[in-house]
Amino acid sequence: MAAKDEKIGIIGSGLIGRSWAMLFAGAGYQIFIYDIESKQIDSALVDIKQQLQRLEKEGLLRGKLNASEQFKCINGTLDLKQAVQDAIFVQECVPEVLEIKKKVFKGVDDICDANTIISSSTSTFVPSLFTEELKHRKNALVAHPINPPYYVPLVEIVPAPWTDPNAVKRTRELMEEIGQAPVCLTREIPGFALNRIQYAILNESWNLVADGVLSVKDVDKVMSEGLGWRYAFLGPLETAHLNADGWMDYCSKYTNTIHSVSETFKPLPKFEGPQTKVVGQQLEEMVPIQELQSRRNWRDLCLTKLAALKNTLTPKH
Ligand SMILES: NC(=O)c1ccc[n+]([C@@H]2O[C@H](COP(=O)([O-])OP(=O)(O)OC[C@H]3O[C@@H](n4cnc5c(N)ncnc54)[C@H](O)[C@@H]3O)[C@@H](O)[C@H]2O)c1
Ligand SMILES: *[C@@H]1O[C@H](CO)[C@@H](O)[C@H](O)[C@H]1NC(C)=O
Ligand SMILES: *[C@@H]1O[C@H](CO)[C@@H](O)[C@H](O)[C@H]1NC(C)=O
Ligand SMILES: *[C@@H]1O[C@H](CO)[C@@H](O)[C@H](O)[C@H]1NC(C)=O
Repeated sequence: MAAKDEKIGIIGSGLIGRSWAMLFAGAGYQIFIYDIESKQIDSALVDIKQQLQRLEKEGLLRGKLNASEQFKCINGTLDLKQAVQDAIFVQECVPEVLEIKKKVFKGVDDICDANTIISSSTSTFVPSLFTEELKHRKNALVAHPINPPYYVPLVEIVPAPWTDPNAVKRTRELMEEIGQAPVCLTREIPGFALNRIQYAILNESWNLVADGVLSVKDVDKVMSEGLGWRYAFLGPLETAHLNADGWMDYCSKYTNTIHSVSETFKPLPKFEGPQTKVVGQQLEEMVPIQELQSRRNWRDLCLTKLAALKNTLTPKH
């Protein structure tokens, strides 16, 4: 596979912008990373080069080009026009502040043409909050990555009410091409899908600790040594399907049990008050603050090994 001519603009060269640049480079796109801070761009380029070389050495590089070919696809710029004009796709990765998102989208909208998809990495803002006034609002949407995007393939594609279905379709195809695993929500909803599910889990985890049923360590173990083993391969619904003679059988057997357990759930918690400190102390016994970075490196290593394992297994469907 060779490098392509098509251009991708990345707005913001922080943690997430760097990951997107590497993912698009794997498919050979011409990438321009824009930032308002020149030292951010400089450090992003150094960091990306090192990451690509390390991944190559460890046999973990994604995409079909080698590390130096991929790095050649990426340029930094302080000129928004250079990043956006004639791009097929622009991925915004600026800080999670609504006013900044609005300003950046307006700036991109003024320059881009009718074919450019303008996509946000936001984890918390539904796209209608910052795209309503745009000339090209039918090309605007959210493509929410999961941290760390290079190692976790899911992307949530979220349209505003005015987003053209064709923009969603093109985004989905692009995400598949760069080796990510997109899902498309039919409409915007707070938390999208992943955080709604994640918050339900956090919610009950908090309540189990607050009620003194389990320690922090053991709540996490329920996931890391239990549910998580299956969830790396199949979701909760297919899990149910396999845990009986199919879903219909599962429901007829377990619906009453599930409902009566669910009725004992506590009211919606808020993560504040003395309990916050208790959880924090236990977490810091497990992973002291100064060891967070080495723990993240370990997490990324685990995720790459999992990816390698998944690649050797039968095709997913
Ligand atoms: N970090 C995560 O875990 C994660 C996961 C999924 C989505 N996201 C989302 O991705 C986005 C970026 O997050 P991040 O962690 O990479 O942030 P970051 O702070 O690491 O990087 C933000 C970058 O944007 C630049 N910037 C600031 N204002 C700008 C402007 N007006 N124009 C261009 N660049 C500007 C900054 O100089 C910085 O380089 C956020 O919306 C965040 O919610 C983050
Ligand atoms: C990467 O590919 C280029 C061009 O195909 C080649 O010249 C170069 O030697 C390769 N680098 C490595 C480290 O394999
Ligand atoms: C990108 O940067 C390289 C130097 O790293 C330069 O040779 C190349 O011309 C730049 N590409 C564009 C399109 O500006
Ligand atoms: C959190 O749990 C409570 C019950 O424990 C429930 O009422 C609430 O809807 C849950 N929130 C989420 C996001 O699941």
